[in-house]
Amino acid sequence: MAPIVSVSNLSKTYASGFTALKGVSLDIEQGEILALLGPNGAGKTTMISIICGIVNASGGEVTVGGHDVVRDFRQTRAMIGLVPQELTTDAFETVWNTVSFSRGLHGKKPDPAHIEKVLKDLSLWDKKDNMLRELSGGMKRRVLIAKALSHEPRVLFLDEPTAGVDVTLRKSMWDVVRELRASGVTIILTTHYIEEAEEIADRIAVINGGEILLVEEKAALMTKLGRKQLRVDLAQPLDRVPEILSSYDLTLEGDGQCLIFDYDTSAGRTGITALLAALAEAGIRLKDISTRQSSLEDIFVEIVEAGR
Ligand SMILES: Nc1ncnc2c1ncn2[C@@H]1O[C@H](COP(=O)(O)OP(=O)(O)O)[C@@H](O)[C@H]1O
Ligand SMILES: [Mg+2]
Repeated sequence: MAPIVSVSNLSKTYASGFTALKGVSLDIEQGEILALLGPNGAGKTTMISIICGIVNASGGEVTVGGHDVVRDFRQTRAMIGLVPQELTTDAFETVWNTVSFSRGLHGKKPDPAHIEKVLKDLSLWDKKDNMLRELSGGMKRRVLIAKALSHEPRVLFLDEPTAGVDVTLRKSMWDVVRELRASGVTIILTTHYIEEAEEIADRIAVINGGEILLVEEKAALMTKLGRKQLRVDLAQPLDRVPEILSSYDLTLEGDGQCLIFDYDTSAGRTGITALLAALAEAGIRLKDISTRQSSLEDIFVEIVEAGR
């Protein structure tokens, strides 16, 4: 199936001269939850804003549902729901009116039953007649989600949806997101929280410095968690890994005081026993050994560092 969103060779240089995107390409499949993971300033909001037609690209192109987002702006914008990073709401309007009006803005006929369902799903039904200024920050964010869903988009963008949101709301938000996916909606969310990407995404794209560093199925990324490290603290420092140990995946750290052995926990034989025997045979004396498991956080840091 053709991707629902296709980004190709997208670049953006702001008027200030700063280049926020450097030739980004990414295909998003219908019905998936893609997490765009990256530190602050990576270019996440810029990319989303271009896809949604809010910011002009400097180069490259984007299609949504096969339509160019610049040439066919109205058509593509109607397919998209965007929950922006910044909380911007009309303080003196009611929840019901805000969400209903938003549907009209996208050229859809009024559908009170749909608005009711959206508000109920987001636990906003009992606030429907409240003014936005009377709501808490978490509720305002839910109103933004309701607005984005008011016109039944096929693609939903959530830009840092859980910034400043408590745990309970986050959970109910993920329930809504999963339900939307089940109904066929494609969801792209940006986050700088790894755990969040880990919890909700089908696929993870890592972006940093305006470049996509990696796009991978979450499951595949997680198997990298199967990697563990054995640290061997040495009694005497080495100036290099001895030739006799060259068949092992070893690196020397800490001024030669520590040998690091990377091994795969999912492999039948880790090679630890053989390595320790080989060390003894080579006459290398050990001070201490320990193991540590790399987290998704480590992997992320590694990828970002390597991309620098
Ligand atoms: N309107 C703008 N003018 C100039 N620079 C901008 C503008 N908007 C964003 N930037 C810069 O572009 C980079 C990427 O920003 P952004 O896309 O907001 O990143 P993210 O959402 O990943 O935090 C940042 O360095 C930011 O300062
Ligand atoms: Mg952002």
